[in-house]
Amino acid sequence: MDKGRFIVFEGIDGSGKSTQLKLLGKRLRERKLKVHETAEPTDQPIGALVRRILRGELQCVDPALAALFAADRIQHLADPNTGLLKLIKEGVHVICDRYYFSSYAYHSVHAPMEWIIQANSLSAQMLKPDLNLFLDVPVEVCLQRLSASRDNLELYEAEANLAAVREKYFEAFSRLKQNEAVQIIDGRGSPEEVAEAVWQAVGHLFETHGF
Ligand code: ADP
Ligand code: TYD
Repeated sequence: MDKGRFIVFEGIDGSGKSTQLKLLGKRLRERKLKVHETAEPTDQPIGALVRRILRGELQCVDPALAALFAADRIQHLADPNTGLLKLIKEGVHVICDRYYFSSYAYHSVHAPMEWIIQANSLSAQMLKPDLNLFLDVPVEVCLQRLSASRDNLELYEAEANLAAVREKYFEAFSRLKQNEAVQIIDGRGSPEEVAEAVWQAVGHLFETHGF
């Protein structure tokens, strides 16, 4: 049986990842492909703990939070019943809102990027994305989108921090360009326009899967 593909959406908060993930999922299902939509942090126990920290309900030093994200990721991959490795082996295509490039970008604002890459090396060995899609949207636009849709912004959603995170994404892409498939998508258009650009980038990966 053919293995499933693993496509990851990356970008700063409010860049449109979850919107595009849903649109891509719909498009793949319309083509009768088996698709699993997922996100990190997960809704599993470690991911739930991470979300409480992000909401400010619990306190945690930055390196400990970075390690929790890495732990959540390992569970997401390797859970024997629901893990992504199992699904992909069974031929299910997985599309994921954030993966290890989020860790490289968000945590390297406060810690050496090399340490974050090391902390995630087990995940990188277990499962590398067929494609990382970075939705590039200016920080001001992301913040406008978020303030229109949310009452409270989370831990990382301050303007200066998001600008620093965006820079760190580009630093990580450049650093890992030999090992990782990355495509930058202009995320400023309408959801439909961006979805078309996403399809131009990923469609060919599904050609051997029935169309
Ligand atoms: P993310 O998952 O990257 O944080 P979302 O997909 O949740 O981003 O989008 C954040 C907000 O912006 C939501 O209110 C969403 O409806 C809106 N949004 C998403 N994509 C676009 C777009 N292309 N143009 C305008 N608004 C958008
Ligand atoms: P998410 O729920 O995807 O937020 P959004 O939809 O606004 O993009 O992610 C929650 C926050 O967690 C987001 O600010 C990015 C951050 N994050 C990290 O700091 N490290 C990580 O490894 C991941 C996956 C997310």
